[in-house]
Amino acid sequence: MCGIVGYIGHREAYPIVIKGLQRLEYRGYDSAGVMIYDGNDIVVSKTKGKVVDLEQKSAAANMSGTIGIGHTRWATHGVPNDVNSHPHVSNSGDLVIIHNGIIENYAPLKEELIKRGYVFHSDTDTEVLVNLIEEVQKKEKLKLGKAVQVALNQVVGAYAIAVFDKKNPNEIVAARLGSPLAIGIGEGEYFIASDASPFIEYTSNAVYLEDGEMANIRLHKQMKVRKIKDDSLVDPYIQELKMNLEQIEKGGYDHFMLKEIYEQPSVIKDTYRGRLLANEGIIRMAGIEDNLEKFLNADRIIIVACGTSWHAGLVAEYIFEEFTRVPVEVEYASEFRYRNPIIGPKDVVIAISQSGETADTMAAIKLAKEKGAFVFGVCNVVGSSISRETHAGAYTHAGPEIGVASTKAFTTQITVLTMIALRLAKAKGTLSNTDYHMYLQELELIPEKVKEALGTNDIAKEIAATFIDAPNCLYLGRGYNFPVALEGALKLKEISYIHAEGYPAAEMKHGPIALIDEQMPVVVIAPRKGHYDKIVSNIQEIKSRSGRIIAVVTKGDTEVRKLADFVIEIPETSDALSPLLTTIPLQLLSYHIAVMRECNVDQPRNLAKSVTVE
Ligand code: F6R
Repeated sequence: MCGIVGYIGHREAYPIVIKGLQRLEYRGYDSAGVMIYDGNDIVVSKTKGKVVDLEQKSAAANMSGTIGIGHTRWATHGVPNDVNSHPHVSNSGDLVIIHNGIIENYAPLKEELIKRGYVFHSDTDTEVLVNLIEEVQKKEKLKLGKAVQVALNQVVGAYAIAVFDKKNPNEIVAARLGSPLAIGIGEGEYFIASDASPFIEYTSNAVYLEDGEMANIRLHKQMKVRKIKDDSLVDPYIQELKMNLEQIEKGGYDHFMLKEIYEQPSVIKDTYRGRLLANEGIIRMAGIEDNLEKFLNADRIIIVACGTSWHAGLVAEYIFEEFTRVPVEVEYASEFRYRNPIIGPKDVVIAISQSGETADTMAAIKLAKEKGAFVFGVCNVVGSSISRETHAGAYTHAGPEIGVASTKAFTTQITVLTMIALRLAKAKGTLSNTDYHMYLQELELIPEKVKEALGTNDIAKEIAATFIDAPNCLYLGRGYNFPVALEGALKLKEISYIHAEGYPAAEMKHGPIALIDEQMPVVVIAPRKGHYDKIVSNIQEIKSRSGRIIAVVTKGDTEVRKLADFVIEIPETSDALSPLLTTIPLQLLSYHIAVMRECNVDQPRNLAKSVTVE
């Protein structure tokens, strides 16, 4: 969480930093701040609130200069207020820092610095770090880069930082451990950012620092990258960026979330393009082919993930067990990492993460590797920490997901996981030939069907208008669509702040049914294939208690229509693939409810897109 941006070069830094912060705002938006070096002195402006508030606050100040750093914050240490906002300046007023991450041992370090006469103005761990660097610099008479290195070797925690020293103003020092950091390399200029989006219009060359690396970025000099631990020089790998500007702009939509919902037909296709050859009966994914034996010999598959990615893992559990007959366990990464799980070399662990940076998922991967398991990643962000930490993997091709509520990442994750299950089923012979080919054909048709499912937008909007004041909502589904119920409830909670719970429909009678009255909207996912008769009975139970039913049904359904207050029709597909369609109207429903409640859809309160703290 938190986004950092830096610029050193020949252009005005302020507009670059501000635009960069806007693009990184998905990473946190509790407060924002900027430092510009005007050729003589530093100008710092920071405020509680969003980047737009920062712009307002800075409007009167002279923000001219060609070196700058900026930060958008998701608060960890210290409430979101002006003082706790970044950048933080050292006691002498010379050093300025921006930081994404947590310094875990900040308390003893702070105590020590206070004893040495340092004064602290904020509650943050970051202010401790900048003063520690200053103390090292003074005591050991070191240049900035060396002082940063010595200080970081005393620190426990996670960081991506950029530090500037006004005594030596031709340089920014950047470092990372556990939080992402990309450096864009232009002509006589460098860009620093948490991801490449702030600089894609300026350069397509970027270096992603590895964990434990730092960079001395100097004007008119080649950047030097070295290991923080032992000072050894590293030859940085310069990547060519594939991202384009269009992908990170709203493209005429009111919100990123809506744009991303509508992108699903094309990104699902992008995700299977070149991997699924339905007519030839082939699924080909390099990460799987290269490690096929590992998967085929696995006694068990364990899926670790968080949030929406965990829901995709649950859908995969149903699909893998049905298609491959291998037992699957789906774990919250945050629980898995702390419970001494029983795993070994015969286990395959699949880690799912859109951002590829989620701290809990990362820790779960490291633990699984320590215990000898083979770990396979399903990530969206190319080059992300998780994609590098795993033994092998398959990318989803959802493109940048900027809306904080995950939508297209979910459906592309399911697409990748379905392809993996089908490939393994083919190798194991656990699916009949007919079924195997049927699923391949069906998967190829999914983008068109998702397009059709997006046609439910108007009805979703109409239904949303009826439910905007509901304080609670239940989501029910069975089988493959139970995880979709969980995901539907999560989407509603996170962007509209309406309390919602997802349940397996049959569990309702074991408790939640007590909640049902004429005020309670109940969203039931009831496609024709699957446990249709059972779910019709569940709907009857809700009806007889006067619950208000919104049913997601297969086109042409007549039975549920008789019982439900509202029906949303989606195209027919196989039971196993139905989550790719049933999830669409639920995304639209929560989107419209949130818009009507005037919530900030793309940046819901308290959340951040990339959760790099545990
Ligand atoms: C919800 C949402 C989160 C993420 C979770 C994991 O809409 O986006 O629940 O799914 O924080 O993030 P990743 O997939 O980046 O590991």
